[in-house]
Amino acid sequence: MTKKKVYHLKKGTKIFLFLCVLVCISSYYGYQYYQDYLYKQSYEYKLLELGYKQEQMEVLVDKLNDEQLEKILTYQYNEFIPEFVKTKYFLFKNLEGYLSQVITQDEDFFKYHGTEGYDYEHLVALVNVRATENPYEEALLVDESKGYAMLANKYYELGSDYEPEDLVDIELKYYYGDKKQIRSEVYEAFKEMWNAANEEEGIYLIVDSAYRSYEHQKKVYQFYEDSKGTKYADSIAARPGFSEHQTGLTLDIYSKECFNAKTFSKSKTYAWLVDNSYKYGFILRYPDGKKDITGYSYESWHYRYVGKELAEKVYKEGITFDEYYAFYLE
Ligand code: DAL
Ligand code: ZN
Repeated sequence: MTKKKVYHLKKGTKIFLFLCVLVCISSYYGYQYYQDYLYKQSYEYKLLELGYKQEQMEVLVDKLNDEQLEKILTYQYNEFIPEFVKTKYFLFKNLEGYLSQVITQDEDFFKYHGTEGYDYEHLVALVNVRATENPYEEALLVDESKGYAMLANKYYELGSDYEPEDLVDIELKYYYGDKKQIRSEVYEAFKEMWNAANEEEGIYLIVDSAYRSYEHQKKVYQFYEDSKGTKYADSIAARPGFSEHQTGLTLDIYSKECFNAKTFSKSKTYAWLVDNSYKYGFILRYPDGKKDITGYSYESWHYRYVGKELAEKVYKEGITFDEYYAFYLE
């Protein structure tokens, strides 16, 4: 008969093993507790707690930085915030502006802006370019430090004293009407474009208007206001101090083939300019259907020099210069 060996653990070993088990269990629960603690500190948890749905929370966490998320957590749940955050040209600094548009929207606003329901991309564009503010009255000064990329519109004013220093006379062969001047780099770019249009399409570009002083612009605006009233004048001409023509960076361009504002948009010259002018540093400044953004009716003849590099970017982005400036340059 074989004797079974019985092993008795020493008391010390038993205590040791017991302590090991205890440590394991408490580590496990401690770890769980710590994970839970961490999760409760996360933006994900806090946003869900505030009422955001999973998908909305993911948008916010994905698009916003920590500082911005902290700010969102100081607001109450707002279903419009993720909608605005999702838009391509969302600017966090304008969030309250976007939200105030939604809150104060009424039918008239949509009629005026031609939108149905909440078009978030459009609302973002309007707020970004300050079109929801009072034109002229709340204008800031044009940021001249931006050089050829400076923005002058109903919200950025040049004032009565602004006059570029490098104006040059335009040669008679390039214009109709009174003597004209433009900034020298713009003139060089225009001549390059003139040659290209002539060689490629047999077009003869003609400048109708170039640099306009404050006093000159006053007369232009006055003419429209006297003949058709303030509302019409504001849709077609800048008030003195607010015109791009005063920057010396803008040319109104037609051609020998078509020198008529009413039909220019149908001309061969326009078709060429709209898709080629950016190669020489010019952009179509007041495109069709963008009056609520630019503040002006369609002007198929008005080209703004911004330099070749920037003109290509604006052209390829497919948005107005006002929108481009607000999002990328300001
Ligand atoms: N026609 C443009 C808006 C101007 O007067 O500057
Ligand atoms: Zn013009």
